[in-house]
Amino acid sequence: MAEALEEIIDLSLLDPILAKYGAEKGAVIPVLQQTQEIYGYLPKEVLQAVARGMSVPLSQIYGVVTFYSQFYLTRRGKHIIRQCDGTACHVRGAARIVQTMEDELGIPAGETTPDYKYTYEVVYCLGSCGLAPVAVIDDDVVGHLVPERMVQIVRDLDAPAEEG
Ligand code: FES
Repeated sequence: MAEALEEIIDLSLLDPILAKYGAEKGAVIPVLQQTQEIYGYLPKEVLQAVARGMSVPLSQIYGVVTFYSQFYLTRRGKHIIRQCDGTACHVRGAARIVQTMEDELGIPAGETTPDYKYTYEVVYCLGSCGLAPVAVIDDDVVGHLVPERMVQIVRDLDAPAEEG
């Protein structure tokens, strides 16, 4: 199994955001959204820098981050795979896909691989029940899945593009 990778966090990437919004106390949410776009999640030291840069108490920043499900406090994978196991997907075999993917990735659903390549989540309706079973892989909706196809799609995510 791959080892967890040490992450180097460059706080200077925050500078343009804080320069633009730092003086606007009401701009905490857009600042956090843009910050998360840069880092992929909201590391503790980044939140401390945001609090300092905006002169807002850190507790208030944490309050916002924990209130909204769009914000993540832990590092996520390079690829985000959201597998639906809602009713329509479940009756069409989603549970078998989940089991297969847990074996393939070596992690339980809801976690990120130690090499931070994949985050595998289970959700309960992606609004595309007609395509069941469905997953969203990065930003692509993929329907009518079977376990073997799902494994192949995920293996191909990091495969070099074919020449031609
Ligand atoms: S139940 Fe899976 S998309 Fe609706």
